[in-house]
Amino acid sequence: MPNRDEIMKALEVVIDPELHRSIVELDMVRSIDVSDNGVADVTVSLTTPGCPIKGHFQTAVAEAVTGLDGITHCNVYFDVLSDTQKQALQQKLGRGSLPQGALAQVSNVICIGSGKGGVGKSTLTANLAAALAGEGKRVGVLDADVWGYSIPRMYGLGSTRPPVSAERKIIPLEAHGVKVMSIGFFVEEDAAVVWRGPMLHKALTQFLQDVDWGALDYLLVDLPPGTGDVSMTLAQLLPQAQFLIVTTPQATAQKVARRAAQMADKVSLQIGGVVENMSSFTTPSGERFTIFGEGGGQELADELDVPLLGKVPLTMPLREHADSGVPLVIEDPEDAASQAIRQVARGLVAMAPMAPMALPVLPVIQVGTPPPVAVPASAGERKPAGMSLPMA
Ligand SMILES: Nc1ncnc2c1ncn2[C@@H]1O[C@H](COP(=O)(O)OP(=O)(O)OP(=O)(O)O)[C@@H](O)[C@H]1O
Ligand SMILES: [Mg+2]
Repeated sequence: MPNRDEIMKALEVVIDPELHRSIVELDMVRSIDVSDNGVADVTVSLTTPGCPIKGHFQTAVAEAVTGLDGITHCNVYFDVLSDTQKQALQQKLGRGSLPQGALAQVSNVICIGSGKGGVGKSTLTANLAAALAGEGKRVGVLDADVWGYSIPRMYGLGSTRPPVSAERKIIPLEAHGVKVMSIGFFVEEDAAVVWRGPMLHKALTQFLQDVDWGALDYLLVDLPPGTGDVSMTLAQLLPQAQFLIVTTPQATAQKVARRAAQMADKVSLQIGGVVENMSSFTTPSGERFTIFGEGGGQELADELDVPLLGKVPLTMPLREHADSGVPLVIEDPEDAASQAIRQVARGLVAMAPMAPMALPVLPVIQVGTPPPVAVPASAGERKPAGMSLPMA
């Protein structure tokens, strides 16, 4: 009869299809028991309870173990990694979370994402941040769309380089009462930026760790479209973040948005709500057109069992102001789109887990090596592709 070590050895062939490593190496085999009649019980720890690759493990583990002489049957059980085990796993994968205290003064982190592009994430982020500032909140926007950054333009900030504090922290630029940070401040306008893998991870970590966000009630994070590297990395770095999903009303967009929700779920991010954008268009004479259909936002919200925080109509001023660099909620708070966005902002305030203003202001604890010295690079030194952030 094979012993525990032999079974463990056999399990080395079971590869986690997402992490591309053996479940033994990843320390995901929780227990192994073999009874005299040759029945093996193996428990595998998953990263999340609803792990979609459960079936893969079920088959692969059973096959690997029953291939051993003496084993007649293998029962595969599952449990979920504890938070400590998850942290250990992340460290093993070289994707450690932020140093403790890096965002200690930030009360709420909200990632604005969608399954597909062009649904209005950035427009909503820019306006929502301004609306929250209008509610008297301290707000920051992190433009995490490192390839297609658009927040600087929407805030009229161009590519001004942010200053560096005496503590060697990057000071976010400020516009319309909102602190803003974007990769767009560090690269030549329209330069192609190639951020991948560890470099991307490092850049995003720096945005959170080496930027002097100070005390904020809300940090809104504008995600790139899709469910790719940035979203996964941020989810790991910001386990406390809430996810706000933007969708247009039509069924296909909603289907894609559902993928973003699944991603959030997979990485254990809490989904705070859904915002439907481009909901309808009303002509000056009052005729209403549902250009992208109707009802998708509500359906998605119902399916995810989260609130639909707002339905933002298509209005020309919303687009025009995004292009001209002043969020519409500031210029025309009574525009139909502004009103809807302000309603979303109030919904977020109502949802906040605690009264953020009442939070004690904690010092930011520096763990490990201090951030590298920021060397203001001359324009000639700015390399757009795969570089370390200039603040490094
Ligand atoms: N409700 C709206 N009414 C009118 N125009 C809108 C509305 N929402 C977004 N837009 C316009 O649609 C375009 C796409 O919006 P935006 O860039 O915010 O989308 P996105 O989801 O951030 O895109 P990407 O996926 O490329 O980051 C912009 O020109 C924006 O001004
Ligand atoms: Mg965008």
